[in-house]
Amino acid sequence: MTYVVTENCIRCKYMDCVEVCPVDCFYAGENMLVIHPDECIDCGVCEPECPAEAIVPDSDERAGAWADHNRRYAQSWPNLSRRETPPADADAWKDVPNKSAHFSPAPHTPE
Ligand code: SF4
Ligand code: F3S
Repeated sequence: MTYVVTENCIRCKYMDCVEVCPVDCFYAGENMLVIHPDECIDCGVCEPECPAEAIVPDSDERAGAWADHNRRYAQSWPNLSRRETPPADADAWKDVPNKSAHFSPAPHTPE
């Protein structure tokens, strides 16, 4: 089992999650993060840290196709183990539903 970042993360990208992960298994895109399913130890500490409630266990129905999405992008995006500055309009996107159309496949650019 693993935890999964879902579409609630898109354009919010608060990065509170990376601060608490004991194994640094978050990988970063331009506007969302994913979890590497083979590195996640299923501890669950990141789930309550996300202000956008974007992180769920893969057994949760909200994970859906996002599990494959996490596995795919964790292979090409850079690892992120330290919180950087979230998008300036992150709060405006926090409660927006169905954000998958806004997903960017581009990798994160470190600060
Ligand atoms: Fe990291 Fe634990 Fe979250 Fe997995 S469940 S991503 S190991 S904090
Ligand atoms: Fe995304 Fe939540 Fe982490 S918005 S970057 S999963 S704290």
